[in-house]
Amino acid sequence: MSKKPLILGIESSCDETAASIISENDQGNPIILSNIVSSQVDVHKEFGGVVPELAARSHIEKIDLIVQKAINDSKINIEEIDAIASTAGPGLIVCLSVGLSFGKSLALSLKKPFIAVNHLEGHALSPKLNSKLDYPYLLLLISGGHSQFLSVQGLGKYKRLGTTIDDALGEAFDKTAKILGVEFPGGPKIEIFAAKGNPDRYELPKPIFNKGGCNLSFAGLKTAVLKISKNLKNNQDKYDLAASFQKTIEEILQKKTKIAFQEFRKLNNNKKNIFVVAGGVAANKKIRETLLNLCNEESFIPIFPEKELCGDNAAMIGMVGLEKFKVNQFSKLDHPALPRWPLDKNAIFLKGAGVKL
Ligand code: KG4
Ligand code: ZN
Repeated sequence: MSKKPLILGIESSCDETAASIISENDQGNPIILSNIVSSQVDVHKEFGGVVPELAARSHIEKIDLIVQKAINDSKINIEEIDAIASTAGPGLIVCLSVGLSFGKSLALSLKKPFIAVNHLEGHALSPKLNSKLDYPYLLLLISGGHSQFLSVQGLGKYKRLGTTIDDALGEAFDKTAKILGVEFPGGPKIEIFAAKGNPDRYELPKPIFNKGGCNLSFAGLKTAVLKISKNLKNNQDKYDLAASFQKTIEEILQKKTKIAFQEFRKLNNNKKNIFVVAGGVAANKKIRETLLNLCNEESFIPIFPEKELCGDNAAMIGMVGLEKFKVNQFSKLDHPALPRWPLDKNAIFLKGAGVKL
């Protein structure tokens, strides 16, 4: 039996320092041998958001321990690693530089190939860690910095069908949380609040609901939440507002995903219709349920990552590393950290005032 590849994945693009060892089983399916994520929530809590310099300092303090723990937990020897994959973008440049430099240095000292990974491609491939997933598939990527519909044609081959023209969905959750006085990061807390509230209590806007194809917009929602929040009297009002906010998001995603289904079908005639939801917000139970029901109605096969793999982690970076390793897609050691690195390089920039839809 030939030796299975062993890939070390490293992630430091924002506020999680993470390392993971990935391999394959005899059937050729990926397996996670270790997956260590160290969150910096406590570092940033008092500031209500990620402070880049503090995040970078924290990555520097922890990266060697986290990588060491990932290697120890996987029970392999460091010399057995076949390639090292680090996130090279998009993200905060001071944060990216830590995991990127560490990965490059380790690759150089172990004399192993280095693989620069797009963080978004990590999210895109994350369901492969627990499900068999063939190309092409439709991806809804909903994280703290991105909200996009993409047709994933193959490794590194993406066609963007729609994107947010303002805030990312995770950002909208976090801003709503901040307005409701919830500590950063608020997305998961909004879900808990919403479970206790009446989703029909407040009417909130659905920007570009009836135009703009499967493009998305969430900034108007946050403004409406801010306005209503001035008149909240008690906790129940907060729960009702959280529930109304979440329900509005479900309705927007349902409508826009339906449009994305049509566009995906047109693009990939006669192929199996697979729908993947990934990124931090994909952990939201109600959103998953809504999209699952839509898949049943529209004959799409839903494939979602494990909840633990929705947020930022290094297993997904190792997953991309594994796929690239198998086709010898290695990177040079001068690969730069890229604050902006779109999956679809041909997609036009669709943000800010004056955007025509
Ligand atoms: O993918 P991710 O961990 O980091 C980025 O690449 O941005 O996504 C983080 C985002 C945050 O905005 C967080 O509030 C949101 O995902 N999030 C959630 C939930 N869990 C995380 N939003 C809504 N419901 C959740 N359960
Ligand atoms: Zn992410």
